[in-house]
Amino acid sequence: MLNFEFKNPTKIIFGKETIKNLSKEIPADAKILMLYGGGSIKKNGIYDEVKQSLASYQVIEFGGIPANPEYEVLVDALALIKKEEITYLLAVGGGSVIDGTKFLSSAALYTGDNPWDILEKGIRTDVGLPFGTVLTLPATGSEMNSGAVISRRGTNQKLGMGGPGLFPQFSILDPKVIQSIPKHQLANGVVDAFTHVLEQYMTYPAHASLQDRFAESILQTLIEVAPTVIENPFYHEAASNFMWSCTMALNGLIQKGVPTDWAVHAIGHELTVFFGIDHARTLAIIAPSHYRYNFETKKAKLAQCAERVFGITTGTMEEKAATCIEHFEKFFHSLGIQTKLSEYTTEYLGTAERIEARFIERGMLGLGEHKAITPSDVRQIVSMSY
Ligand code: NZQ
Ligand code: ZN
Repeated sequence: MLNFEFKNPTKIIFGKETIKNLSKEIPADAKILMLYGGGSIKKNGIYDEVKQSLASYQVIEFGGIPANPEYEVLVDALALIKKEEITYLLAVGGGSVIDGTKFLSSAALYTGDNPWDILEKGIRTDVGLPFGTVLTLPATGSEMNSGAVISRRGTNQKLGMGGPGLFPQFSILDPKVIQSIPKHQLANGVVDAFTHVLEQYMTYPAHASLQDRFAESILQTLIEVAPTVIENPFYHEAASNFMWSCTMALNGLIQKGVPTDWAVHAIGHELTVFFGIDHARTLAIIAPSHYRYNFETKKAKLAQCAERVFGITTGTMEEKAATCIEHFEKFFHSLGIQTKLSEYTTEYLGTAERIEARFIERGMLGLGEHKAITPSDVRQIVSMSY
C-alpha cells in the first residue's frame, strides 16, 4: 500500500425528505446564489422544495448552466456574484451544475486577471467561496469531492481543476430525485460511477486489500441495482444504493494508497469536445480498448475482477482477464450504452490522430498508472475504439 493522507470535510445528508434540512446548513445571514441547469428542477418539484427551505434567506438565482458546464456561461454568474456581493453558493443539479459552482467558488476569490487561468494553468484552489449542493443526478461524485471539469466552447477545451478549498460544505442526497431522470441519463450515471471505480482499481496489485474490496463492492452493487434503477426509479432501496455507490465511487476513499489510472477520462473528454457525446458514453467507448491495449500491465487486476466481481473461476489469468473486459462490454450494452465510436458518429475517421496531436500540444506525454501511455499509444487506443 502506498502512503496517503485522507481528509474529506463534506457533510452528507442522505435519505428521504432531506431537502428541508437546507436551512440548518447555511448561515442565517448568508446571501445565496442558487445555481441550476436547464430547468429539470422546475418540472420535478425540486425547485419548489429548495425555495421553500430557503424562505427565510436572501436568494438570487442563476439558471441555464448547460451539461458539460461552459466557461462562457459561468462568467455571467461570476459577474452576478461580484455585483450582488454573494456570500454563499448553492448548486441544485447534477455534476455539471456542481462543477460549474466549484469553478465559481474558486473564481469568486481569485485575484488574478483571467479566471480561465485557474483551468489552463492548473491553479489549485485552497480557499473558495463556501457552497453546498442538492444533488439531482447520481453519477459524478462531484457532491463529495473537490474536483470539477469545465468546458470552453470558443477554444474546444474541456479541462479539470480542483483543490482542498472545493469540497462542498454539505450535500443533500435524497434518492427520490432519480424518479424524474430519463432512462438514458440513469444509464449514464451507472456507467460513469462504474468507470470511476475502474480508474482507481484497474491498475496493478498494490497490496491494498481493503481498497480493492471497497472498489469491488461498488462494482457489484452497481451491477446488482442497475436494472431496477432503470426500470423502476421509484423503488427507494435501489435508488438509495445507486446514489450512495456513485458518491462512494469518487469521494477519494477508494483511491487512497493505490495507483490510479484516469487515462479513460482524459481521452473521453476529447470525444465530448469533438462530438458532444455524453461523458459516460465516452468512457464506455474508450475503456474496453484501453484495457485490451494495456492488457499486459493490467491483466492481474482484470483477472482479480473477473473472479471476485463476475464469479469466473476457470481458465488462466489471461483468459479470466480477457473475459472480464467482455463482461464490461456486456454490462454497458445491457444498459443500452454502445461501446464503439462509430455507433455515435459517422465522422470518426481521423479522431485518433487529432487526439494524439492535442495531447502532444498540451504536453500530456505519459498517462496511466505508470505514466507510460504516450500520445502514440492514445492514438492506437482510440483507433481500436472505432
Ligand atoms: O440541466 P437540467 O435541465 O437540470 O437537466 C439535466 C441535464 O440535461 C438532467 N437532469 C439532472 N437531474 C435531473 C435531470 N433530469 C431529470 N431529473 C433530474 N433529477 O440531466 C442532464 C445531465 O446532467 P449533468 O449534470 O450534465 O450530468 P452529470 O451528473 O453526468 O455530469 C456530467 C458532468 O460532470 C463531469 C463531466 O465531465 C460532465 O461535464 N464530471 C465531473 C466529475 C467530478 N466533478 O468529479 C467527475 C466525472 O468523471 C465527470 O468528468
Ligand atoms: Zn466520469
